[in-house]
Amino acid sequence: MVCKKEELKLTTLGLNNIYLVQKLQKRCDDRVWKKESLIHLLKKGSGFGFVLSEGFTGIGYILARSLQSELEILSFGVLSSYRRMGFGSILFKEIEKFIIINKKSKLILEVNSHNNKAKNFYKSMGLDEIKVLSRYYKTDNGQEDGLMMSKFYF
Ligand SMILES: CC(C)(COP(=O)(O)OP(=O)(O)OC[C@H]1O[C@@H](n2cnc3c(N)ncnc32)[C@H](O)[C@@H]1OP(=O)(O)O)[C@@H](O)C(=O)NCCC(=O)NCCS
Repeated sequence: MVCKKEELKLTTLGLNNIYLVQKLQKRCDDRVWKKESLIHLLKKGSGFGFVLSEGFTGIGYILARSLQSELEILSFGVLSSYRRMGFGSILFKEIEKFIIINKKSKLILEVNSHNNKAKNFYKSMGLDEIKVLSRYYKTDNGQEDGLMMSKFYF
């Protein structure tokens, strides 16, 4: 697939593109957040996010929330036909910019322990595995372990 990077557009998540995030979550096989939860995250939950588009097509998104000295990634995905092309890295680096500008010291997240793609992605971004969360996720296959990962910034 040819992707001209000059056509890429990074948009801050706002009330106007919530539906696009839900659509991307669905197409990335991620949990689709209710509209109310997304609004609550943005308005009251110290949350924010970005959507990456190529032309008029949304291709990826990332949601995070700002805690006291930490930042937590809550939901993140790139459409399958656009993976391994560096788009996940673009979204992740936007979050890292926020961390540096706002002098946060730590990034945390949880990932399904069977999700090797995401684990490999996060390892390539410098995150370490810190804790197994036993039976953390309810899935069609029953309960699956979660993995907490983190990265420190100084
Ligand atoms: C995780 C995800 C967002 C990565 O997005 P992406 O656009 O493919 O990531 P990038 O192309 O920027 O990859 C950067 C690096 O991460 C690593 N990586 C990414 N996907 C990988 C895979 N499937 N296998 C091994 N390493 C991988 C590689 O080191 C890659 O660099 P390289 O391609 O030069 O080798 C994407 O796989 C995805 O949407 N997965 C489904 C949703 C999901 O699991 N979200 C995370 C929930 S916590």
